Amino acid sequence: MNILLTGGSGNLGTELKKILPNCIAPTKQELDITNRNQVFDFFKNNSIDVVIHTAAITKIRFCEENQRITWDTNVQGTRNIVDAIKKSEDNTKFVYISTACVFDGHRGMYKESDVPYPENFYALTKLVAESEVTKVSNHLIIRTNFVAKKPWPYPAAFTDRFGTYLFAENVAKGIKDILDEDLNEIVHLVGDKKISMFELAQITSPDIKPMTINDYQGPPLTMDMSLDTEKWKKYSLTRN
Ligand SMILES: NC(=O)c1ccc[n+]([C@@H]2O[C@H](COP(=O)([O-])OP(=O)(O)OC[C@H]3O[C@@H](n4cnc5c(N)ncnc54)[C@H](OP(=O)(O)O)[C@@H]3O)[C@@H](O)[C@H]2O)c1
Repeated sequence: MNILLTGGSGNLGTELKKILPNCIAPTKQELDITNRNQVFDFFKNNSIDVVIHTAAITKIRFCEENQRITWDTNVQGTRNIVDAIKKSEDNTKFVYISTACVFDGHRGMYKESDVPYPENFYALTKLVAESEVTKVSNHLIIRTNFVAKKPWPYPAAFTDRFGTYLFAENVAKGIKDILDEDLNEIVHLVGDKKISMFELAQITSPDIKPMTINDYQGPPLTMDMSLDTEKWKKYSLTRN
């Protein structure tokens, strides 16, 4: 089976390449999703059974301040792949990695059937791209929430933002499991415990400092990113 992975150099892509060693994982130079001709040529020259689309601009502050490039990458880039699949007439499955941030984060534990309402530009582009993906009949939208299993990249972490977080390696395993089951439409790939970002950060960085949203200045953030699922099993964070 030919699997194309976009975003292979990213946090999740790096883990997916370990668990799917035979996937095709072009670099951004080899397959820039904003370059429509390059995307169409790629699908003309390669027969792809499954696309796992993780490539995106993901930093919330950068997205808010650079809306053109964010839209062109997250929305138009996704649309380019969708259109190339449709043109190829192969029955390619489109697996799109989306985020808990499509929800407003006011109450948490959102299920697949709940109504999205993004809080910031990044989340808006992810939601619009979800809608693009539904134009491929064989599609799967996986909403999740994870971090790389590395020391926390900031000196402090929020005690008042929550999620059913996983590490990227747990999400990669979950994506493989879901692919084996041939699920479709929207699936939430979630951890089995709702914890604060501070508790999450403490796993890899025991000396992390606590902070709250009152210490933060920037674009609106999704406060409670916890997800529930009515379609799939839950996963545990690998703590060691
Ligand atoms: N991290 C989270 O908390 C989280 C939670 C839920 C969902 N997600 C979603 O999961 C996916 C992966 O997230 P991540 O944290 O692994 O992302 P990441 O580490 O920021 O990696 C993003 C990837 O996208 C690639 N990329 C950016 N622009 C591109 C373009 N024009 N053409 C081709 N590739 C391009 C980057 O390539 P370069 O390295 O070459 O720039 C990189 O490989 C994203 O779609 C994100 O929205 C993330």
